[in-house]
Amino acid sequence: MNTVLRLESVCKSFPVADGELEILKDVNLSLSKGEGASIVGKSGSGKSTLLYIAALIEKPTSGTVWYSDSDVTSASDSSLAALRKEKMGFVFQNSLLLDDFSALENVMIPLMNTGVRKKDAQKKATELLDRLGLAERLDHRPFELSGGERQRVAIARSVICEPDIIFADEPTGSLDEESQILIENLLLSLVHEKGLALLLVTHNEAFASRLEHRYILSHKELRAYEE
Ligand SMILES: Nc1ncnc2c1ncn2[C@@H]1O[C@H](COP(=O)(O)OP(=O)(O)O)[C@@H](O)[C@H]1O
Ligand SMILES: [Mg+2]
Repeated sequence: MNTVLRLESVCKSFPVADGELEILKDVNLSLSKGEGASIVGKSGSGKSTLLYIAALIEKPTSGTVWYSDSDVTSASDSSLAALRKEKMGFVFQNSLLLDDFSALENVMIPLMNTGVRKKDAQKKATELLDRLGLAERLDHRPFELSGGERQRVAIARSVICEPDIIFADEPTGSLDEESQILIENLLLSLVHEKGLALLLVTHNEAFASRLEHRYILSHKELRAYEE
């Protein structure tokens, strides 16, 4: 199997004044290349915490996180940072862009940081922004873009290096319908055409129903979501 990510018996508690606050209990999840999984759940149920653990940003209190058949639970911060940079893309609800750079530059820069030549980076970034309906906005700086346009640029930036897996935390949460559809279609085409894996936290039923796996997080546990 082409398993990209696997969580095994993951538990997470946060220390609080009078002891421990348990958020996740015995969570298991496995995601392969070319597959998407959605997670729904009430506000405060632990969805973002679960996503941060899967994305190697937070450590579980107990349990194991596997990335491509390697146990990375106790890996050093520097090797996790390298893995995140090279293999993972992140999309958050309000992603930040570099204010002093154009939309095109915001998307080109991560690719150039991996050694791709400026001209090639420019071509690829232009094509991606075009697919996201931003062909007329390449030279705009973030303050000259709408919220939905900024989020589309942020998504282009997080997928330009073709990561193995994309983590998205309510990426279309506060967006207009046009932006929502463009973002959904781009993410789904990356999964189904380029073979990326997608772990998506969303309240958007229609988007969730277009993915292979659906989960609900409730009472600290992750279960298959039944409609
Ligand atoms: N660093 C932290 N320290 C203490 N409690 C936290 C921390 N991060 C999150 N929590 C708590 O964990 C619970 C789940 O949060 P979160 O994962 O953000 O939920 P969701 O994304 O489903 O809304 C909340 O009650 C939140 O207050
Ligand atoms: Mg959240």
